[in-house]
Amino acid sequence: MSDRKEKKVTARAHANIALAKYWGKRDETLNLPFFDSLSINLEDLYTETTAVWNEEDPRDALSINGWEVPAHKLGRIQKMLDTIRAKAGLEGMRCVLTSRNNFPVSTGLASSASGAAAAAVAAAASAGLSLTERELTQLARLASGSGARSIPSGWVRAYAGTEPDGSDCYASSLFPHQYWNLHVFAILVDTKPKRISSAEGMIACQKSPFWNAYMASAKMHADAAQNAIFQKDFSLLREVVHASTSQLHALAATASPSIFYISPKSLEIIEHIHRQSQAVPVCCTLDAGSNVIVICEDVVYPFVKNDIIAFGLPYIQTKVGGGTTIIN
Ligand code: DP6
Repeated sequence: MSDRKEKKVTARAHANIALAKYWGKRDETLNLPFFDSLSINLEDLYTETTAVWNEEDPRDALSINGWEVPAHKLGRIQKMLDTIRAKAGLEGMRCVLTSRNNFPVSTGLASSASGAAAAAVAAAASAGLSLTERELTQLARLASGSGARSIPSGWVRAYAGTEPDGSDCYASSLFPHQYWNLHVFAILVDTKPKRISSAEGMIACQKSPFWNAYMASAKMHADAAQNAIFQKDFSLLREVVHASTSQLHALAATASPSIFYISPKSLEIIEHIHRQSQAVPVCCTLDAGSNVIVICEDVVYPFVKNDIIAFGLPYIQTKVGGGTTIIN
């Protein structure tokens, strides 16, 4: 145990954006989704987390960009660390996680996903565990459902599974990140933390009168997205990305209480991109926030970039990225 206790490990995990959204949990404790989802990792948006196990204090600790997260707010990260502690036989030891994001947190840019993935990989390795990629996705999922998808590289599908213990719920890569040369722009409409977390939003949405209709439609999106990507057919991909996004946000508006993640400025951008997408291989999406993610094919990249500059908002330009790696 003494050599493990000083083993510092740093992992880097990329944020991901869902093309077919995860929304709704069949098990809220284990973060098991109702249906499959599909995402791409974002190369230039990442979290780096250093983990070290020691005996100095009985409590686990997490800092994010220098902010010490209060113990009662560790929430599902705590569950993930408890699982690692039990697997590695580290009872009585605590984990200290120091995390930094190179992009604004809690704005719908999926910092919870990259945070969960980086913490899972760093904490497991620092505990001396050698886990498969599938097991790492299951660990990350305990902290954040979408976090499972930031572990594998490139184009990633999360499988909902049916087992109550989540043993068949995991994520894996469908295609490597170089597979299809798409450009991604994350337009920062609002960098303030979001008011309603995804977990709360999902619960409120289950009270919408349209929940069953939403489920019936949304569970088809991962297959449709996978098929579009397999064929590299951008118009099919655009169709499913727009359906998945619009259905989630329309459902949120009918939740109890109503949730409006989209701001007037996001709507202006969405309307513009939807109009363009009739003639040009471009599409857009939002997670549970007001920032808009625009995706386009290489051939129209300069044209789309000019449009984005014209919105006059800060943006991050990136491509499809790799999986979580140990960097130190
Ligand atoms: C809209 O993974 O943040 O971004 O499992 O409660 O941590 P928890 O939720 P989270 O939800 C992500 C929702 C989404 C869609 C997606 O990424 O698939």
